[in-house]
Amino acid sequence: MKDLEKSKSRKLEHIKYALEAYSKEDYFKDIKIFNNSVPEINYDEINLKCNFLEKKIDMPVMINAMTGGTDLSFKINRDLSIIAKEFNIPMAVGSQAIIFKDKELERTFKVTRENNKNGIILSNLSALSSLENVKRAIELIEADGIQLHLNPAQELVMTEGDRNFKGMLKNIENIIKNIGIPVIIKEVGSGISFDACKELINAGVEYVDVGGKGGTSFIKIEALRKTSDIFEEIEEIEIPTPQSILFCKLAKPDLNIISSGGISKGSHIIKSIMLGANISGISGPILYKYLNGGMNEAIEYLNLLRENTKILMGCLGCETIEDIKKVKYYYKEEDIIKNFVKSKINI
Ligand SMILES: Cc1cc2nc3c(=O)[nH]c(=O)nc-3n(C[C@H](O)[C@H](O)[C@H](O)COP(=O)(O)O)c2cc1C
Repeated sequence: MKDLEKSKSRKLEHIKYALEAYSKEDYFKDIKIFNNSVPEINYDEINLKCNFLEKKIDMPVMINAMTGGTDLSFKINRDLSIIAKEFNIPMAVGSQAIIFKDKELERTFKVTRENNKNGIILSNLSALSSLENVKRAIELIEADGIQLHLNPAQELVMTEGDRNFKGMLKNIENIIKNIGIPVIIKEVGSGISFDACKELINAGVEYVDVGGKGGTSFIKIEALRKTSDIFEEIEEIEIPTPQSILFCKLAKPDLNIISSGGISKGSHIIKSIMLGANISGISGPILYKYLNGGMNEAIEYLNLLRENTKILMGCLGCETIEDIKKVKYYYKEEDIIKNFVKSKINI
């Protein structure tokens, strides 16, 4: 099979296996929050609006990177961008690397900007990409920012994957210095550790998407594609999303953090904000709704997500996103993580 055909078929397989590879574990369950029986709130005044990349968005949620490059991807990107516009939330396209193999496939990404002229749209490429390709990807969709994905675990388990990650931090640093729009460094399901986050910050990174364990697992996808059988061993070292948020927050308290990996319901969004995230990214759960029942089901899901988040905020006595940050929670893992980080700093 030619290189381009291989890329297209891999993209289709990712979509095919995504649902089966979604974790059954909810790592947010361990974060305890408590009902407020005397909430000084008016439900009608609960407001989910917040800022992201200097634009106002209607809720702290984004449709995270998934696809592009095939006819099915064209339809998914077209429809999800209409939905992103309707909800006034950001959307990231999937990896644009395929446009460098076939220019004709640019349309499968471009459609997102055509449908949503003023919304936030993010480009997506590997953190190993050249500056020239990064510029081309951004230009194509007039992106407001670019996600550079880190997926060493996925690449290493894929028979056809990258093997050499040397120079990646320098490459990230160079891209940040030369791009002039926000660069979001993003994991894809294995989570960002404290040390990795520190290295990224030293390279000039101001935005991270933790892409933690708890949702879509690319290692599981590769196991289902029969390219790897090391799933369980890698799973052991992956970092659950809530823990990765804490690692990144401890690495730099004012870092812009996107929580993703297993975000599917209102409590996940609220708990992410409590731990220090600005917004949450969702991929798998939106994709399944879309593949199952088209745009209507995806819209219904996001409506319900917004509604449930508001109800939970009401139960916690919160009217705004800022109020959420003041709510007390209990998370046993937090002490373990803080002690671990402290011991590293004291060494
Ligand atoms: C079908 C599919 C394709 C994906 N493709 C990309 C990609 O091209 N680039 C990327 O950075 N992340 C990609 N991701 C990863 C997601 O952006 C996200 O980090 C991961 O799925 C965890 O989020 P979730 O648990 O909400 O699915 C993809 C996810 C899915 C489900």
